[in-house]
Amino acid sequence: MTDEQNSVTLGTERGSVQFPIHRATEGNDGIVVSSLLKDTGFVTLDPGFMNTAQCESKITYIDGDAGVLRYRGYPIEQLAEHSSFLEVAYLLIHGELPSPAERDSFIERVNRHTLVHEDFRTFMGTFPRTSHPMAVMSSAVSALATFYPESLDPYQDETIELATVLLLAKARTITSYLHRRRAGEPLLYPDYSRGYVDDFLRMTFAVPYEQYDADPVLVDALDKLLILHADHEQNCSASVVRITGSAHANIYASIAAGINALSGPLHGGANESVLKMLQSIEKADYDVNTFIAKVKNKEDGVRLMGFGHRVYKNYDPRAAIVKKRADAVLETLGVNDRLLEIARELEEIALSDDYFVERKLYPNVDFYTGIIYKAMGFDPSMFTPLFALGRMPGWIAQWREMMNDPQSKIGRPRQIYTGASKRDYVDVTAR
Ligand code: ACO
Repeated sequence: MTDEQNSVTLGTERGSVQFPIHRATEGNDGIVVSSLLKDTGFVTLDPGFMNTAQCESKITYIDGDAGVLRYRGYPIEQLAEHSSFLEVAYLLIHGELPSPAERDSFIERVNRHTLVHEDFRTFMGTFPRTSHPMAVMSSAVSALATFYPESLDPYQDETIELATVLLLAKARTITSYLHRRRAGEPLLYPDYSRGYVDDFLRMTFAVPYEQYDADPVLVDALDKLLILHADHEQNCSASVVRITGSAHANIYASIAAGINALSGPLHGGANESVLKMLQSIEKADYDVNTFIAKVKNKEDGVRLMGFGHRVYKNYDPRAAIVKKRADAVLETLGVNDRLLEIARELEEIALSDDYFVERKLYPNVDFYTGIIYKAMGFDPSMFTPLFALGRMPGWIAQWREMMNDPQSKIGRPRQIYTGASKRDYVDVTAR
């Protein structure tokens, strides 16, 4: 196939058919196969969407072989170094970096909406304290639709803009409440005079009526972590958000569905699983080689959590940034964590071991984040909600792009039926 070609021809036993090619600005071009069924009677089978693009998108670009990640064209390294979480949120959602006035007004709007309805605070207090925070978080985001009905219309630009601001604002308050409920501590009110991350740390960790000043190194580190998690193109949860929204479900329902997808240990839940894995290695006092041998033998489905990625076949650029940050945070907090040593040993062995090298398995973003969150004082069950808080702008941007795309259709995959052919019902007495 040449770069000038604008279609490809597929010959099948039922005749040949021509498919248009859609060119990418970077990365893989796509063959549009939508007419295959109508023209030939065949469907495509692609479990796990290994090869299927569900949309064209202008939001995030990943080159998995080169370890490249860009939001709206800007390299993740530059954004993590120079930008802030809310500025990145604006960029992802609106497509361009904001002017100073646009940035200030966006930040002001988000901050002003961080207070939740008093009944919402009561609602947050009704879940058992022992509930996993991800289950509570998805319920809470879903419930925003009941408290803010004026922001539900998915066809009006102003309502979508309102829902966008509400989601970014309330998600922060919800996340701090998840931590406080579990700890049996009172839920605090926001302080509009503080920054998004600064006030999040206060709402999460402050003792009521005592002055709380977050360490600027921690504010900066958490801000960067949120930026690193802000979007990752068509991953499992973003795809779920798009598919749910493709039925024109409201944005809260769509993002609640994404939060549920993110909770799985093969996706965002991996950050919690990594910490449990490191703790189990520490507790059993195995040497790291013994654990690696179990992984390679695929013993009881043991995987090296925080390693491997569907798209990255190189070092995840986010993991490289997080790894550097881990040192700074632990040093600031004066924490000497044996788990960080274990993680480094695991990484070193894995990166030089044939099993991992042949399969191109490298650390992903989740490998080192848990160590930082733990040092900051978060319980492991809070790690995935922190991921969700960071991913909020990406889910919003993906949902909005899907709603505005004239090519969007309700997500409805086909199947290849392999069950029984027609047979007649047999009465229970005759079976
Ligand atoms: N440890 C050991 N072996 C692994 C790992 C791992 N972490 N990941 C993949 N493999 C092996 C598989 O066993 C398989 O080996 P085989 O060819 O001998 O059967 C091969 O590598 C390919 O793995 P797949 O599962 O087919 O790769 P896929 O792209 O479907 O999965 C995934 C990607 C789910 C991320 C996988 O690497 C994994 O389970 N990693 C651990 C969980 C994790 O860290 N998830 C977070 C991902 S990042 C994110 O969502 C934010």
